[in-house]
Amino acid sequence: MEVRRDPRSFLFFIILLLLINSPEPQQQSFNTRTRYDELIPREHAQLDILNRTRYGDFNPRHRKWLNVSGCRDEDGFAWDLLPGVIAKANTHGERALGTAWAGVLDGSILGQERDALPLYRNLSGYVQGEWVRDASSRLRHPGDMGNTTHPARDPFTNAAMGFDRNLTGPSGRFRVHITELEDKMRMDVNKTISEVSAKVVVGDDESFGGNWWEFYVHGVHFRDSGHAVLTTTSERFAGIFALPHFQLSRALHDTSQHFLNWTILETIERQIHRPFPVWNPWTSLPAGSNDDMMGVAHHCEFVLYLQQPPSAQTVDMDWLEHEMRFPTGAPLGHRSQLSMSMVGFSPDCGYVIESKGPPGYPPSEAMHLAGSKTEEYNDRARHSIVAFAIALAFQLSFLIKQMKETATPSMRSRVSFYTIAMMALGDGFTFLVLIFMYLFLGTAQLAMYSIAFVALFSVLAHLRFLMDIWTVQAAERARQERQQAPSAPTPPPAPTPAASEPSNDLPLAADAFGTPATISRPPPNAPPGLPLPAIAPAPRPPPRPQTPILIAPDQDDPLSDDDAPLLPTRNPATAPAPVPAPANPRAEFGALYSRFCLLLIITFFVSIQFATARTLYRRIYFSLLSFLYVSFWVPQIYRNVQRNCGRALRWDYTIGTSLTRLVPLLYFYLEADNVLFAATDWQVAAVLAGWVWVQMVALASQNILGPRFFVREGWAPPAYDYHPILREDEEGALLPLNVTTASDDAIDGAEAGSRSAAEARDKGRKVFDCSICANDIEVPVVPAGADESTVAGIAGTGMVLQRRMYMVTPCRHIFHANCLEGWMRYRLICPNCREALPPL
Ligand SMILES: *[C@@H]1O[C@H](CO)[C@@H](O)[C@H](O)[C@H]1NC(C)=O
Ligand SMILES: *[C@@H]1O[C@H](CO)[C@@H](O)[C@H](O)[C@H]1NC(C)=O
Ligand SMILES: *[C@@H]1O[C@H](CO)[C@@H](O)[C@H](O)[C@H]1NC(C)=O
Ligand SMILES: *[C@@H]1O[C@H](CO)[C@@H](O)[C@H](O)[C@H]1NC(C)=O
Ligand SMILES: *[C@@H]1O[C@H](CO)[C@@H](O)[C@H](O)[C@H]1NC(C)=O
Ligand SMILES: *[C@@H]1O[C@H](CO)[C@@H](O)[C@H](O)[C@H]1NC(C)=O
Ligand SMILES: *[C@@H]1O[C@H](CO)[C@@H](O)[C@H](O)[C@H]1NC(C)=O
Ligand SMILES: *[C@@H]1O[C@H](CO)[C@@H](O)[C@H](O)[C@H]1NC(C)=O
Ligand SMILES: [Zn+2]
Ligand SMILES: [Zn+2]
Repeated sequence: MEVRRDPRSFLFFIILLLLINSPEPQQQSFNTRTRYDELIPREHAQLDILNRTRYGDFNPRHRKWLNVSGCRDEDGFAWDLLPGVIAKANTHGERALGTAWAGVLDGSILGQERDALPLYRNLSGYVQGEWVRDASSRLRHPGDMGNTTHPARDPFTNAAMGFDRNLTGPSGRFRVHITELEDKMRMDVNKTISEVSAKVVVGDDESFGGNWWEFYVHGVHFRDSGHAVLTTTSERFAGIFALPHFQLSRALHDTSQHFLNWTILETIERQIHRPFPVWNPWTSLPAGSNDDMMGVAHHCEFVLYLQQPPSAQTVDMDWLEHEMRFPTGAPLGHRSQLSMSMVGFSPDCGYVIESKGPPGYPPSEAMHLAGSKTEEYNDRARHSIVAFAIALAFQLSFLIKQMKETATPSMRSRVSFYTIAMMALGDGFTFLVLIFMYLFLGTAQLAMYSIAFVALFSVLAHLRFLMDIWTVQAAERARQERQQAPSAPTPPPAPTPAASEPSNDLPLAADAFGTPATISRPPPNAPPGLPLPAIAPAPRPPPRPQTPILIAPDQDDPLSDDDAPLLPTRNPATAPAPVPAPANPRAEFGALYSRFCLLLIITFFVSIQFATARTLYRRIYFSLLSFLYVSFWVPQIYRNVQRNCGRALRWDYTIGTSLTRLVPLLYFYLEADNVLFAATDWQVAAVLAGWVWVQMVALASQNILGPRFFVREGWAPPAYDYHPILREDEEGALLPLNVTTASDDAIDGAEAGSRSAAEARDKGRKVFDCSICANDIEVPVVPAGADESTVAGIAGTGMVLQRRMYMVTPCRHIFHANCLEGWMRYRLICPNCREALPPL
């Protein structure tokens, strides 16, 4: 099982993922030519209709139809709604441009250089807002539509199945990304009209789970009046060929007809000469989808009218646009954002929608669609990327500091493997998201890829750290397993009699959990027959055979197994002689590494699926994922409790990592204008921030008050308590040994210690020596024969902090907490007597 897997499998998965997600290469089917032979003449016929028809030739109210698909009588589209929609678009134009609108309609304003309206001539950018359903909308069913191009003739399509993009709710979100590329889009010689295409993302609030759709529309943009008319085009609906007939006036019809006459002809020429067959150059399906009629769910067609209101600014808009695009450093002042109003109309599904805003709604509630131009968006994206890079850099520097600090086995065994693994997963996920960002945004910036590699570096650093930790902890686990094995010779029978002797040698370590209840119990009640931890019969020279120190602290559970792993193997008594060679931790780690990659890929793959799921599912999934991710301190807290040690990680690491990992998440949940267009949700943000806060508080209190202060006794396996309550009894057996009397290696200062001890005695305190720094320690001690209240006072929470100032080893040596902790980073033996110490 523990085969080391090839890390190249990771690469393989990435390539696989690329293949799965890349646009399907449209298969060069054998019937390409025959299909073209059918397609191209049809397009030419439709273009001929566009060429020949005049304004007013398409008037469904007077039963005048166009002989193109979708605009014939028998197609059964709801064309009677069109005049109302045109009137609405007219109102939008009039409201935006005022008196100038009449000039737009009769065409006199188009192509005029002088007194041009203050509008952006280049609409590239995005706007978003809300739509509301218009009262004139109807609900239409697939059966209402004519059967000439209808799925009814396709036996595989169920006519009862609803159409895509079928908006039935009263409102929803609407976002449109407009593209007007200089080199790709054509413009007429007078620069009055240009080609434009847009990606529409529209959601329906009422649909189950918040369904939403994404599709493309193509059309024309009148650059001098700031309005655009766009439409979907499909086999069922020759939208682009009928576009002049959707215009608002005769002049606009003529302009667009002349323009489309030659641009469509050119597009058809290009289509013929493309090396790969393109069935529909004006497809509404997202790039990569197959525009084959077979198998594709039918969708509602869409005609979109956009109107840009003039800017309130007095600056020369042409200059402003040029400056935004090619900055020379001139101050731009407050740029007016890109805003628009919208009327949308589905001729087959029969809905009419409008952007939400005045006059129907107060400006405070909604202001139609607003967004920003591509240049501004790119600026913002760049800033976010730089900010994220800084966060990543900080995160890395904290990690490296922490790794330097955690250089010794005893430090490494404190850090939770899973905490670091979760962070590594998070970074790996970030890496994949950045690499595949173009899938979600359709744009990519070079900076993104460089950040992706910083993230990858972070993953590698984390993996390195994980391997260090794993190596140390694998040895620990191996020991644990050995000791749990039934044949393990660990619990030697020897100590048993010593422990079961009813003695007053009460446990120093009696109170692993710091509760007074345990302590105040009279010693004779101590459970008999508890196998002592292996440390008791240590091969210490036996000058004081009657100084057994450790007795199992808790009354309910013999700790034979659990306590033992805490003891280091250095003690020859603990280590069973014939040690089977443990599995190579590196090989194990290799297996783990493969699992890590697999988990990462699966998470990423599932996330991609959810990124296009209905709003509700998407929100639930990503909130859950974020919550799981920011739970990264939980394994550490758990490990602290299990091992009864609280100082695994540096403070700056804990705080820095929490912040640098939380802030990017919060950005998406709180910033409405975020670069990924994610919907904000301050409640989730509050939960995430609060949860991280709770974890940090837990870590801090574990550090200050003891790792188990919030855990009830018995919930965690017993562990040696370095901060016991000291009791004095008649024989002084419960107190730490003082250097002068109990230990052979005497240390200076014992004299002074004795003196001050005498002074401190009255106050219920005692003074010992710390042999590490050779200074005194004054510790509170429960006097012999103290009543319950005194015991409770010292054992109570008020004294917890005081008890954390000193540490008593199992061999009954007492030290300053700071001194012993510093020592224990390097060696797990008592500085006084070289007795092995349980790890901290
Ligand atoms: C457009 O119509 C004119 C006649 O009105 C004809 O000469 C011309 O060839 C047509 N162009 C196209 C592309 O069909
Ligand atoms: C519509 O066009 C088709 C060819 O595209 C033609 O066969 C048909 O006769 C035309 N119908 C009318 C009413 O002109
Ligand atoms: C369309 O429907 C009419 C009657 O509703 C029927 O006569 C005609 O055959 C159908 N055409 C196709 C292509 O299914
Ligand atoms: C649109 O959805 C409504 C409600 O689900 C349904 O009744 C109607 O048939 C659908 N229309 C189309 C064209 O799918
Ligand atoms: C509009 O602006 C975008 C973004 O700067 C640019 O890529 C595009 O070429 C511009 N289009 C025109 C027609 O100037
Ligand atoms: C361009 O403008 C000139 C002068 O205003 C006009 O004569 C010409 O017809 C226009 N060309 C087009 C294609 O609109
Ligand atoms: C369309 O273009 C052709 C040349 O390709 C031209 O003869 C015809 O007059 C144009 N039609 C219109 C309506 O502009
Ligand atoms: C050391 O231990 C002896 C008895 O074992 C005791 O009398 C003496 O006070 C102790 N010294 C200190 C500093 O506690
Ligand atoms: Zn000290
Ligand atoms: Zn010792």
